[in-house]
Amino acid sequence: MDGLMMRSSLCRLIGCRYPVLQAGMGGVARSDLVGAVTRAGGYGFLGMVRETPDLIRREIAAVRDGTDRPFGVNLIPAATDARLLDEELAACFEAKVHSLALFWDVNPDVIKRAKDHGCVVFHQVGTVEDACLAEQAGADVIIAQGVEAGGHVHGTTTSLVLLPQVVRAVSVPVVASGGFASGRSLVAALALGAAGIHCGTAFLATEESFAHAYHKERVIGARSEDTLRTDLFAINWPVGSPVRVIANSLTTRAGATRFGHDPYLRKRESIAQENGQPIYRYSTESPLRTTQGDLEQLALFAGQVAGEISDVPTAAVRIERIMAEAAEIIAALSGRLEEGV
Ligand SMILES: Cc1cc2nc3c(=O)[nH]c(=O)nc-3n(C[C@H](O)[C@H](O)[C@H](O)COP(=O)(O)O)c2cc1C
Repeated sequence: MDGLMMRSSLCRLIGCRYPVLQAGMGGVARSDLVGAVTRAGGYGFLGMVRETPDLIRREIAAVRDGTDRPFGVNLIPAATDARLLDEELAACFEAKVHSLALFWDVNPDVIKRAKDHGCVVFHQVGTVEDACLAEQAGADVIIAQGVEAGGHVHGTTTSLVLLPQVVRAVSVPVVASGGFASGRSLVAALALGAAGIHCGTAFLATEESFAHAYHKERVIGARSEDTLRTDLFAINWPVGSPVRVIANSLTTRAGATRFGHDPYLRKRESIAQENGQPIYRYSTESPLRTTQGDLEQLALFAGQVAGEISDVPTAAVRIERIMAEAAEIIAALSGRLEEGV
């Protein structure tokens, strides 16, 4: 679709055709997915939290093999050992990556280093306060994450309520995150003042994502009510970092004691393997194509929007559908306004 949305200020700033951003998802958003999104006119982030500098270099090169359009890398300073974080940043800077998408606590030093190396800096936040802190520290784009989002969830406010407040509070472009997977929701985000949408769950359920087929099946089979916010899955992150997952046997067993859980106090039990490495019960690792073991007990990250997702198309088809539906909705809305409805 060639329409007014293509020319949003965000598209001009980051060099994509459509204001549809694919979230950096650890393990899940690798070069296949980012390349497919980017070639289809969206903007993708490699999910590289706690990955080695070697893998980061290889994945950046693999995306560049298939496209010369810009894309970014997602890192999470608060969930990464300081030395590894320095090495990850150095790998991104050497490769002259177009942008960094940061998440969780605002780290002004990392933002400054990224800006000094010429990166566009996106920062995902869950509160108005963090949006202001990220902007003051130099972030170019704020991603406002509502509590309905899949994966780690930093705030407690819904997208509908958070987004317009963040838009009012900062002067940089704001992208809507959490609950967005359709053209209707893109139009709603634009109406609330966003410059685009940032989707995780919708792109997890695509052919190119590196998630295990079991995870994709669970997403398309889930109702919105089947997801819940919990701090059960904490190994690798600071204790008390909530995630939104599809309910499984662990969350059912935990029942009312979902919050206040400290897995570091329990004996480590390996329940799956990834490339010969153990994955422990209560880890934040989600099942990937290469994971073997008890997949049902792993963190099946998904947002409430899973209830709207019913198939696993290519990323290009996902984006085409969003843009086609957005065009229809805008036309229908203009018609309704002309009719005085
Ligand atoms: C499987 C999965 C993994 C995620 N991993 C990350 C991550 O590594 N880094 C990050 O910044 N956000 C991560 N997120 C959160 C996304 O950035 C984003 O906030 C969320 O997907 C938006 O909500 P939605 O799932 O409703 O689209 C993840 C989300 C999902 C679904």
